[in-house]
Amino acid sequence: MTMPSLAKLLLLSTALAAVSSAAPTSEDYYPDHCSLLAKAQSGQITYQQVANCYRSVDFNPKLAKETIDTLTTFYNDAFVFRDMAMTPNLESPFSTAPVNAIAGLKKIGQKWYKNDFDFHHDLALLAMSLNDAHTTYAPTFDPDLHSTRSSYRSITRSFCQSIRVYHDATKSGFENCEVQRINGKNSREAIQSWADKNTGFSKDAGVRFNHALASHRYWAEAKVWLNFPGLFSFQFRLPETPYVDYVLKCNGRYAEKFRGQWEVLSIVPDGSFTGRASFVSNLCMHSDPEVPSAPSAADPNALNTLLGMLYEREHGKQDPSLKDLPDAKLWASNNTAVYQLKSMPHVGVLVVPSMEMVSQTEIPAIQGYLSLLAKKGVTNIIIDMSGNFGGEEVFCALLPGVFFDIHGDKSIHAHKTRFRVTPAIQRLADADLLKTENSTYWDPTNLADIETFTPFKTNPFTTGVVDLTFNGRSAAFSQEVYIDYDQSIIDASITYPWSNDPSKIIIMTDGQCGSACGMASDYFVHRHGVKAVAVGGHHNASLSMFSFPGASVLDTDAYVESFELMGVEPPIQRLPYENSVAVGVNFVYSGNDTVPLEYNPARFPAAYRLDYTHATAHNHDQLWVAVAKTAWK
Ligand SMILES: *[C@@H]1O[C@H](CO)[C@@H](O)[C@H](O)[C@H]1NC(C)=O
Ligand SMILES: *[C@@H]1O[C@H](CO)[C@@H](O)[C@H](O)[C@H]1NC(C)=O
Ligand SMILES: *[C@@H]1O[C@H](CO)[C@@H](O)[C@H](O)[C@H]1NC(C)=O
Ligand SMILES: *[C@@H]1O[C@H](CO)[C@@H](O)[C@H](O)[C@H]1NC(C)=O
Repeated sequence: MTMPSLAKLLLLSTALAAVSSAAPTSEDYYPDHCSLLAKAQSGQITYQQVANCYRSVDFNPKLAKETIDTLTTFYNDAFVFRDMAMTPNLESPFSTAPVNAIAGLKKIGQKWYKNDFDFHHDLALLAMSLNDAHTTYAPTFDPDLHSTRSSYRSITRSFCQSIRVYHDATKSGFENCEVQRINGKNSREAIQSWADKNTGFSKDAGVRFNHALASHRYWAEAKVWLNFPGLFSFQFRLPETPYVDYVLKCNGRYAEKFRGQWEVLSIVPDGSFTGRASFVSNLCMHSDPEVPSAPSAADPNALNTLLGMLYEREHGKQDPSLKDLPDAKLWASNNTAVYQLKSMPHVGVLVVPSMEMVSQTEIPAIQGYLSLLAKKGVTNIIIDMSGNFGGEEVFCALLPGVFFDIHGDKSIHAHKTRFRVTPAIQRLADADLLKTENSTYWDPTNLADIETFTPFKTNPFTTGVVDLTFNGRSAAFSQEVYIDYDQSIIDASITYPWSNDPSKIIIMTDGQCGSACGMASDYFVHRHGVKAVAVGGHHNASLSMFSFPGASVLDTDAYVESFELMGVEPPIQRLPYENSVAVGVNFVYSGNDTVPLEYNPARFPAAYRLDYTHATAHNHDQLWVAVAKTAWK
C-alpha cells in the first residue's frame, strides 16, 4: 500500500483554482478573453490576460450543485478529520481555527457566484483553512493552466528578524535589501497573513511562514541544491493583486519603492485551447477516462516542471556543480546524498529530500552511503529532512530501522491506524480480499493485526468497528491496525558508530517535513529519543518539526477508481471538473496516545529552534554547522 505522490500533493495544495463551466452564453457581449490569452506569446503572458480569461467563465449552478453534493458525500464518508477539525483552542505550536467542513460546503452551495472562478476559489480556501496539506481542493493539472509568479521573487528572512530579498530575478541590485513593507503592511505580518490564508500547509503558523519564504534545498528531481522560491513569490493560484508593492532598504540607503509585476509561467502546451469554449472543455472539464491523452493530462507533475523552467533559466540544462557545497565534502548522492562537514569532520549529513523512494533499492543505497561516512571517520549524523513533503509509508517505516535495531519487533516503526468505515468500504475490502491480482488502499492483506503484527486474512473493516465522537459528532472507525512492511529489506548486520545511540543522531527540519516524513520523524524522536532541530519560523515561538504527519491521503478519482477496480458500486460520481480533491483517509496515533497525531500539538515541537542568518539561509552547509553546534554543544 503506497501513498499517492506527496510532491504532487503539495503541488495540488498550492495549485491555482482553475475555472470552468459549460459553454459560455454571453459571447456576444464581451470579447473572448480566453482567445486573447490563447494568442498571447509564451513568456509574455500578463496577469491581466489570465485573470480576464478565468473570470470570463460563467458560473454554472448545475455543475456547482453536482460538485457540492459529491464533495459533501466524500467529506462525510472518507475524511477522517471531519469532526476533529472542529476542535477549538488547540495548544501551541498550533495556530489554526476550528473548521466545520460540511457546514462550509453547504454555505458555498447556497451562494450565487459572479463567475466560476470565484466558486472554485472559495472551495480551495475552505480546504486550505484546514491547514492540512493532505486536504486540498485543486484542479489536477492546474498550474498546467497558468502559474503566476512575481518577477520580483524569492525573499526570505535572514539576519535575525528582518525579511530580506533572497534573490532578485529582476537584477535591479536589490539582493539582500531589507523588505520593510509589502503592500503597505509590515512585511513580516504581510507574509504571515498571506500564508495563513493561501497555503493550507501546516497547523503551525511558523511553518506556514517558512513555506512562504525562499530556502536553499536539495531538489530531488535534478539531484542538486537550488534556491527554492517560497510560495509567496511563486504562486500557483491567481495572485490576489496584479502586482506587489515593496518598500526596500538597501545598505542603509533611504527606503526605495519597488512595484513587482507578476510574471506568468505557463506549462500548457501551445494550441491546448483557442477560446473560452475550448479552454473550458479541454482544460477544465473532467476528461473522459476512456480517452487516454486529453491535452490537459500533459503534465502530471507541474510543480517540478515549473521549477525545472526556473532552473534552466538560471543554470542552463544541467549544472552538476550545484551538488557541491564549499564547507561540506560530498561523498555520494543520488535520490539521497551524504556529506561530511569540513570544519567538523566527525559530523556527517544524510540528506533525505523526499520519501517517495523505492525502498528495495533506496534503503540498501542509504546503508552503503552511511558505511562510507563511517569509514571516513564520521561518528555523529544529521538527518536533513527539510523540505521533505513525504511519500511512501513503507520507506518511512524502514528508514529509522537503518539507525535503530528493533530486534524483530515491527510495531516499533509502525503507527496504530484507524480508517473511516462505511458499508461501501466494507464491501470494497470484501471484494479486495477475494481479488488477489489487484489491490486498493483498503486491501486487508496489506494491513496487520496490532496484537501479532500478522497480515489480515479476513476483513478488518467488518469486526471491531468503533464509533468515535469528536466535538459532539460521531462516526464509525475501524479497529486499530498496522500498515505492514517488509523489514528484511534492511541489512541488520550493518552498523555504524551512531547505531542505537540517539545522542549521536539529529533530525533537522524547517517544519516542512510532511506526511510520511513526519511519521518517520515521530519514530526517531518519540520512540528513540532523538532530538530535532527546526530552522526558521518565528523568533519567540517554538516550531513544529513536522506537518500533517497524521494521515494518508486519497483523492476523489483514486477513491472512485478503487471501487471500479474491485467491481463495487462507487458511492460518489467523478467530479464534473478536472479536479483533484483530496482528504486524509486514515489517521495514526503516536505510540499509545489516545489523541490522533494530526491533532496532538504536544507531539510537534522540535527540541531546538534556530533563526536563519544571511549565511545559513543561503548556504545549506553552513546551516548544518549551526545545527551541529546547537545539538552537540
Ligand atoms: C539513482 O536512482 C535511480 C532512481 O531510483 C536508479 O534507477 C539508479 O540506479 C540510481 N543510480 C545509482 C548510481 O545508484
Ligand atoms: C489489475 O491486475 C491485472 C492483472 O495482474 C493487471 O494487468 C492490471 O494492470 C491491474 N490493474 C491495476 C489498475 O492495477
Ligand atoms: C511572537 O511574535 C509574534 C510576531 O511578532 C507575535 O504576534 C506574538 O504575539 C508573539 N508571541 C509571543 C508568545 O510573544
Ligand atoms: C504501549 O503500551 C504497551 C502495553 O502497555 C507497552 O508494552 C508499549 O511499550 C507501549 N508503547 C509505547 C510506544 O509506549
